[in-house]
Amino acid sequence: MLVLLTGATGFLGRRVVRELMARRHQVRCLIHSPGKERIFDHRSVEIQYGSVLEPDALKQAFYDVQSVVHLVGIIRPRRGLTFDAMHRQGTANVAAAAKEAGARELVYVSAMGATADPAYPYLHSKRQAELEVINSGLEYTILRPSVIFGEGDEFMTALAGLVRLGPLTPVIGGGKNRMQPVAADDVARCVAASVGNSTVKKKTINLGGPHRLSYNNLVDEAALAMGKRRRRIHIPAPLALPAAAVMERILPRPPVTVGQIKMLGIRNVSEGRELEQAFGFTPKPVRGNIDYINAVTFGDALRMTLGLSMPNRRQDSAPARTPPPRPAA
Ligand SMILES: NC(=O)c1ccc[n+]([C@@H]2O[C@H](COP(=O)([O-])OP(=O)(O)OC[C@H]3O[C@@H](n4cnc5c(N)ncnc54)[C@H](OP(=O)(O)O)[C@@H]3O)[C@@H](O)[C@H]2O)c1
Repeated sequence: MLVLLTGATGFLGRRVVRELMARRHQVRCLIHSPGKERIFDHRSVEIQYGSVLEPDALKQAFYDVQSVVHLVGIIRPRRGLTFDAMHRQGTANVAAAAKEAGARELVYVSAMGATADPAYPYLHSKRQAELEVINSGLEYTILRPSVIFGEGDEFMTALAGLVRLGPLTPVIGGGKNRMQPVAADDVARCVAASVGNSTVKKKTINLGGPHRLSYNNLVDEAALAMGKRRRRIHIPAPLALPAAAVMERILPRPPVTVGQIKMLGIRNVSEGRELEQAFGFTPKPVRGNIDYINAVTFGDALRMTLGLSMPNRRQDSAPARTPPPRPAA
């Protein structure tokens, strides 16, 4: 099947490319920043350039596709680019282009906790994007991962930076709300397994890992993986919020945003074992699978805290070379 993938060069996308190829799909990648396609073996995937915010570019890129996998998303708004523009409008554009091209299906990666409540702008825009998918008239599958971990991630890498900095690890709020971290390779497997899979059509599926862990638990897991003993120091959210608001205004890549602090206050877990039931495998736990965070140096930690950059997260693992075959789902 010819599958068009948006967000292919991202943290999740490059793993999805590998999984799609393992299932013997023909893969066409929509490349946003020309040059980034170099991460792929040029003989293994087709390349088209464009932005999901440019409907004309999508028209050209989507010809003859049978399936569209839409991954593009942002975790923090950028100057001049809102969550609504990127998630709702971008997804509406992708759905329209998929329909016009005669695609059979659209697989969309949303986020666990996507909500109609505008108090959480990221999760609200993800829900708006889901509605664009549901109302598009295409066959669809919506996948909602919890926080994703794996080499090149933002969340565990940032936590590792805090652990690296010293004996006291700051935690905003009580740190007790639970999330369900899920491995990037497992999410990629679910995405690829959704392509051409009638059993997951017209479904919205939460993708969570095997354990429900609080932020406090995750600090402890990071410290354990790094062989450090750390005490947590809790910063009340009402104190952290104004600081985050200032950082958002002045730093190129704020270590934490107001929206992220608000999201820390909500429980972000699925009730059942939806991933296992839908895709028939048990996802990997955090423990034993985050050794990559040891690569975070003190310098990386300082740069992240000062809002300058994440360590090499775009040049990392999971090249999309031709992988061994995996049977189609
Ligand atoms: N990472 C997590 O913990 C997590 C958890 C839950 C849900 N999700 C969702 O999973 C999806 C993938 O996340 P990720 O972590 O892989 O994100 P990522 O690493 O930031 O990758 C985003 C991808 O989208 C591309 N892109 C950005 N703007 C674009 C545009 N205007 N047009 C076309 N492509 C564009 C980027 O290309 P350039 O770099 O060239 O701009 C990149 O390939 C997102 O929808 C995210 O919301 C992620």
